[in-house]
Amino acid sequence: MTSKMREYLQIAEKAALVGGNILRYYFEHLRDLDIREKSRNDYVTQADIESERAIRSIISSAFPDHKIVGEEEGISGEEKGRFVWYVDPLDGTKNFMRGLDVFGVSIALEVDGELVLGVVYSPVRDELYSALRGEGAYKNWKRISVSGKKELKGAFLATGFPHRSGDIVEVYIETFRTFSKDTIGIRRMGSAAMDLCMVAEGIFDAFWEYHLKPWDIAAGVVIVEEAGGVVTDFRGGRDFLRTGNILGAASPQLHREMLEVLKKYDR
Ligand code: IPD
Ligand code: CA
Ligand code: CA
Repeated sequence: MTSKMREYLQIAEKAALVGGNILRYYFEHLRDLDIREKSRNDYVTQADIESERAIRSIISSAFPDHKIVGEEEGISGEEKGRFVWYVDPLDGTKNFMRGLDVFGVSIALEVDGELVLGVVYSPVRDELYSALRGEGAYKNWKRISVSGKKELKGAFLATGFPHRSGDIVEVYIETFRTFSKDTIGIRRMGSAAMDLCMVAEGIFDAFWEYHLKPWDIAAGVVIVEEAGGVVTDFRGGRDFLRTGNILGAASPQLHREMLEVLKKYDR
């Protein structure tokens, strides 16, 4: 690992821990939390805003010219630079608001168009997932790997329901119907970043969801791939950050089986 890459990772981990500590504080004081509906069925809390502010300040003090794409504050830094950070200061806002502890901070770095680093921090569980391209994936600095499950039969899946783009509900249900036939169970945890981490550590054998945002998934993509999994969009390509359609699976075989279905329902 180059010393520069190590420095990026250290900053990402530091920012995730600082953001996560802010989330933990508010999670323990939910009654004091300010909540606002930004658009239909999409909420932002004071915790999202303060977490993003702290994360941005750590990244931009270390790397002032890097571009930052964050969920709540949008884009800052050099427009056409080589370095882009994707920041979700709180993935799983609704869980958080209701006192369910499945949520976390998600931070990724893209260099020259390639995702090279991902960090996801779950503050209540105090679990830090991190991965650098080519260096493996870790949870609290211990190596993790995908389950390696090779077929849908008997698989344990995670997904996310389409809740904003109501027009794809019918299509989504077809994918759900097909996958639910053979699997032992499908879970909707409420945080795409955590879903991907749980594929990376072998809890889930695969995860699929439609129309996510880049900050929901960028970190998880690197973590799943470095844990030995396969991640694509619903055409089998790498356009997941733009389309928001993502399939992450524990083996090439399981990925292929699920992709055959998702290809038919790519929207
Ligand atoms: C959401 C979570 C959820 C997914 C939503 C995302 P947020 O992110 O990742 O699992 O289904 O589409 O928007 O709003 O909690 O940051
Ligand atoms: Ca999110
Ligand atoms: Ca968020």
